[in-house]
Amino acid sequence: MQRQILPASPKRISASVGFGDCQPIAVEAATDAVIWCCDAGPDIEVRRPCDAFFRGNLVAAMAAAGSGALPALPVALRDATRLIVIGSDGLMAAVKEARKTTLAPYMGPHVAIGSINSPMQCMLKEVCARCLQRHVDPVTGRPTEPVFTCFNQDQNLDAVDFPNLHERLSMNSVLEKATARWIAHLRERPAPSAAAGGAPPAGYDAPVGTRRSAER
Ligand code: FES
Repeated sequence: MQRQILPASPKRISASVGFGDCQPIAVEAATDAVIWCCDAGPDIEVRRPCDAFFRGNLVAAMAAAGSGALPALPVALRDATRLIVIGSDGLMAAVKEARKTTLAPYMGPHVAIGSINSPMQCMLKEVCARCLQRHVDPVTGRPTEPVFTCFNQDQNLDAVDFPNLHERLSMNSVLEKATARWIAHLRERPAPSAAAGGAPPAGYDAPVGTRRSAER
């Protein structure tokens, strides 16, 4: 998790999926305990005795914490009263469902919030309506009032219609794939040598992270 993890509280815990550029110091400063988990790549170093590493996905890590398989953790999953889920729509949907199935034996009464990532346009809070997120009644499944995600990104996890969110996010799929391939293509090209006086080839833009040094 790259964002601020949790507000101040007497006890807090963060189950975190590892990223390539994860900053453990920032995560540790905001939490009492962390489960570092990833299902690919090298193990993540655990630097505090209260933390743990888990090889697998986030739901499996939560199940391990709930079953007591990670004894170093000072907070029991059953005592968690607030669940804030940040990640892809697939991850949030998986946690939403797992709370009613595989995680149910380990969880006590709690409020679950998802940090919803609906497509947006103006981000001016209730102007263009591009970010409208469909909600359904968790009990009846009937549609309820939709939410402007740019106005309120943190939404009741049980009310969010994740299949609808997934379909809407898929609208950008072609552009995202084309952009990713273009960036990968640019990164593979050798940067023009200033010493050799070479002019950048047409369409070349310096990779992110090298621009400032090149401009100085
Ligand atoms: S993005 Fe335009 S109203 Fe939310």
